[in-house]
Amino acid sequence: MCGIVGYNGPRNPKDVILDGLRRLEYRGYDSAGVAILHNGEFKRVRASGKLSELSKKLEGEAFGGRLGIGHTRWATHGVPSERNAHPHKVEGVSLVHNGIIENYQEIKQELRQLGAEFTSDTDSELVAHLIARQVRATGDLFKAVQQVIPRLKGAYSILAVWEKQPDTLVAFKNGPPLILGIGDDEIIVASDVQAIVSYTKKVIYLDDFEIAHVRGSDYKLFSATGEPLRKPVHVLNWNADAIEKAGFRHFMLKEIYEQPRAVAQAIAPHIDLERMRVRLSGVGFGVPYEKLEGLDAEQDAAKTAQQLSGIDRIFIVACGTSYYAGQVGKYLLEILARVPVETDIASEFRYREPVIPPHSLVIVISQSGETADTLAALRLAKQAGAMTMSICNVKRSSIDREAQGHLYMNSGVEIGVASTKAFVSTLALLNLFALFVARSRGQLTAEQEKHHLEALLAVPAQMETVLSYDKWFGEAAEQLKGYRGILYMARGANYPIAMEGALKLKELAYMHAEGYAAGEMKHGPLALIDERMLIMMVAPTDHHYEKTLSNLEEAKARGGHIISLGTGDNQELKRLSQYYLSLPKAEWTVSPILAVIPLQLLAYHVADNLGHDVDQPRNLAKSVTVE
Ligand code: M6R
Repeated sequence: MCGIVGYNGPRNPKDVILDGLRRLEYRGYDSAGVAILHNGEFKRVRASGKLSELSKKLEGEAFGGRLGIGHTRWATHGVPSERNAHPHKVEGVSLVHNGIIENYQEIKQELRQLGAEFTSDTDSELVAHLIARQVRATGDLFKAVQQVIPRLKGAYSILAVWEKQPDTLVAFKNGPPLILGIGDDEIIVASDVQAIVSYTKKVIYLDDFEIAHVRGSDYKLFSATGEPLRKPVHVLNWNADAIEKAGFRHFMLKEIYEQPRAVAQAIAPHIDLERMRVRLSGVGFGVPYEKLEGLDAEQDAAKTAQQLSGIDRIFIVACGTSYYAGQVGKYLLEILARVPVETDIASEFRYREPVIPPHSLVIVISQSGETADTLAALRLAKQAGAMTMSICNVKRSSIDREAQGHLYMNSGVEIGVASTKAFVSTLALLNLFALFVARSRGQLTAEQEKHHLEALLAVPAQMETVLSYDKWFGEAAEQLKGYRGILYMARGANYPIAMEGALKLKELAYMHAEGYAAGEMKHGPLALIDERMLIMMVAPTDHHYEKTLSNLEEAKARGGHIISLGTGDNQELKRLSQYYLSLPKAEWTVSPILAVIPLQLLAYHVADNLGHDVDQPRNLAKSVTVE
């Protein structure tokens, strides 16, 4: 969703803001703009479309001041256009906003009655109007913001500047993230650390209803009601190199190749290699967030095992790709640990009045940790008295901070809008979690646990071999893009992988795709099959194999063109398929981690071949901070 960057310091604000906005491009946007101090006023330049359009307009523009704000907009209220692009400017107040003001109709009505005129169709402009009215009354931007906050309903993070206080920037939030980067003689405020990390590693994470009052390179933090706050400064341990393409054509391809390492990094903290046991480390159920880092791993693992042994039911709630990871988790947890698991799409869960019995654990999965529906589902689960645990990639994100227990994907920064490495890391974590719960409930012998761990530890090396299909899909893409659509099918723990493959094709190639349980084929989708419909059948040699084979025969008999994914050198699958792709022999528990890679490569190459923007597919955003 929208990206925000504000700069107060001695560098050229235009350069810092544009660089920051570029690093936030992955969040998805459709227009951009800046307002930078020059000769006592904030000069505003905006453009519809990509940042290159804004850069062109800014070429040759000189700015004399130290202070500026910038924004990439993902349209919610009003079409993508220059007129609706941020910053919004009302009587010397300039403002950028990420989120949605839910009571904007009411505010607009009120402002209209007071004679206000609007120059955009956005909800954001109304906040600029409200602040402009208050600075007129108070003569102070910070006081004005304080008075406006109680008027706003919804989710927002906002930066505001006012030309009568040309050294001051005020940042406040309720919902979408906002971070302060503290440099030597400069402050950068942004939606995400990516925009900050080239300039400083020191960051402060604003919480909801907190205000940052930045004057020059000095900052003070307050609650919305004006109490001064002291907050810890965190030091980031990664650098700008982590967010470069490192020679790959796209971030997505780089991230696909990073998957073996991502899985290894996700599982490393949680395996006791000497005893070949899972030792969930740092989950910290109920430990205050700021004390998590000091936990004694052994003690915490023992406590976690005890806490989980009392669980009767698990809910896994997430959106999109994270939801499909959760569905694989259901197979793992039910089969290995014999605990009932319900999976839910977060936007359904939060509104369907779910029955959450006592002794329930609600697991929320979110790469970004900011997805609005998932966050709301987490809050609902807490209110219902459930134990909650998050699986996030972004540490200190809203979901990570609000959950009671925590697991981390450890995938490294994921820039491509299409989630890849975070997905496989989550599968690996859910695998470990299922083994841990299974042991805590007496469902797993030490020998079985060791066997499953060996399968998981072998998977990064096996993933490397599957990545070699990159070349094959690169060559086949030209032909594959000609199909009317692709039907992805599988059974068991690979069924969610079929749905994930279909989602990837839809979001990147904009082609029609369906993910189906292979056993459902006769109940409808068989009618879709002809020679223009490609079937991607995931059919590893497991206990579903014979049945999947029959489904494949049925599809072939109806003229379907088939790519099959099987184990090793499978002559039967070769006979039935146009193309056969071989996967390494693996336990069913890790098979989804291997099977998803060819599906990601297929979507990537077909989309690239079609000339689509693979890293920023149309209409999509990396971090969906509005519902
Ligand atoms: O950050 P989250 O994991 O909560 O995001 C959830 C979905 O928006 C996300 O997985 C989306 O489906 C991806 N674009 C899929 O590639």
